Amino acid sequence: MSINNCIFSSKCKQYGNEERCNPLCTYYTYMHGLNGDGGFWRTRNVPKKYDDCRLENLPIDKDNPQVYKRIKKYAESMGEFILDRNVGLYLFSVPTEANKFGTGTGKTTTAITLLNEFVIWRVKLHVSGENRINSNPALFMRASEYQNIYNDQFKGDFTVKEKASYKFSRYKKSMTSVDLLILDDIAVRGGTEAYLNELYEIIDTRATNGLTTLYTSNITIEALVDMLGDRIASRIEGMAVPVELVGADKRKGGLF
Ligand SMILES: Nc1ncnc2c1ncn2[C@@H]1O[C@H](COP(=O)(O)OP(=O)(O)OP(=O)(O)O)[C@@H](O)[C@H]1O
Ligand SMILES: [Mg+2]
Repeated sequence: MSINNCIFSSKCKQYGNEERCNPLCTYYTYMHGLNGDGGFWRTRNVPKKYDDCRLENLPIDKDNPQVYKRIKKYAESMGEFILDRNVGLYLFSVPTEANKFGTGTGKTTTAITLLNEFVIWRVKLHVSGENRINSNPALFMRASEYQNIYNDQFKGDFTVKEKASYKFSRYKKSMTSVDLLILDDIAVRGGTEAYLNELYEIIDTRATNGLTTLYTSNITIEALVDMLGDRIASRIEGMAVPVELVGADKRKGGLF
């Protein structure tokens, strides 16, 4: 990451001004780190292909105009929805005849758009001195990735297990403390009782501590009971507003 790729560049008045626009800029340092490869942009853990997701290019308005309006409203009042009222979202699509698995409708794109906008907004707020950031503000986590990290603790020799345990507890700490967490593809597979207890603990801690979570899923909130059990399902239901995205699988668009 060079200063030219600074997340703030397109909207920063100092962009291009060599005296002000350099790696020592406070905005740049918080967002990208002194060397350009760290900062809160990195610790949010979003896959690279979603780096450019912003409200202005969120592609769901055509197929889902009402949802688009709600997401826009949410993005424009981050302080209220995320920090004050802790309104989580459960972005889901169910299988239809035209879209057999309810995939590629923009669930992850929408959640990450909100997360990207939140991190940008949060760093600006911090630099302005209004509301300081004490730790990483947001994190993206695929539920299956978290489950794999959990399972790795019980595989291999002592060193491998120890490394995996360290990684797991680091992520767990982050997942239970960030202001905004995405749990992506929450119901892609079930899990052992021990894993589901871990997942419950994270979700429950977030609910108890008033932290906001965005979920994405290919099943309804009601169907979560069969996949993750009623404790997790009812917790999610209590902390997230269901938002359904309809339409064809946009990933398939490029195949023909
Ligand atoms: N409504 C849309 N219009 C145009 N492109 C879209 C739309 N929704 C998603 N896309 C594009 O399709 C691709 C897949 O989107 P995304 O990863 O958000 O889907 P998803 O709903 O999370 O799918 P899955 O259920 O497989 O996780 C992305 O490249 C995204 O930009
Ligand atoms: Mg997705």
